[in-house]
Amino acid sequence: MRHLFVMGLALVLAAPAVYARAIPKPNQRHAPGNESPQTPIAQAGYSVGVNYQLQCAGCHLPDGTGSAANDTPRLTGFVGNFLKVPGGREFLVRVPGMSQSALNNAQLADLLNWLIREDGMAGKSTPAHYQPYSADEIAQLRHETMLNLPGTRAELIKAMRAQGIAIDDGMHY
Ligand code: HEC
Repeated sequence: MRHLFVMGLALVLAAPAVYARAIPKPNQRHAPGNESPQTPIAQAGYSVGVNYQLQCAGCHLPDGTGSAANDTPRLTGFVGNFLKVPGGREFLVRVPGMSQSALNNAQLADLLNWLIREDGMAGKSTPAHYQPYSADEIAQLRHETMLNLPGTRAELIKAMRAQGIAIDDGMHY
């Protein structure tokens, strides 16, 4: 009985060492072209378009049309309307896809300004006179958590309706 216990204990203690030696193999090499660690996106210096494809398109789709089936609103031709209602400017930064993305503040500011430009996804939905976002503004806003996202968004949509703005965000109500 005692023998069994000691043997069992020895096996349990030896197991991690066996695995540690087996994976990865001691002389395993990186695949060709993969020798250096990946650069984090916040330091990679990609263009805004590439940052959008890497960080946003998975949900909002490459052309920004979104997906009602996945509760993801359309940005194309709509997102600029948020700048027409009080609180909308802050909302655009605080939505989790934005504030919690892996992009740094300057990259997020560039990305948002790219989205809301008339020749960007927002198209004609952006008001004629608006202030572009700065990295400082993003830094300040992104760390304040939005506690009630659906409620906040619903209020903003209500304020848009009151201004006679068509709610063309691709969602089903
Ligand atoms: C995991 C899926 C997902 C990712 C990734 C994502 N989003 Fe979103 N986004 C959503 C959803 C869902 C909403 C609707 C509000 C909510 O529930 O968060 C939303 C809302 C928004 C809004 C507000 C528009 C509105 O009509 O409510 C903007 C602007 C936005 N996202 C931009 C971005 C950008 C830019 C990125 C990339 C940096 C991004 N999102 C990444 C899912 C995502």
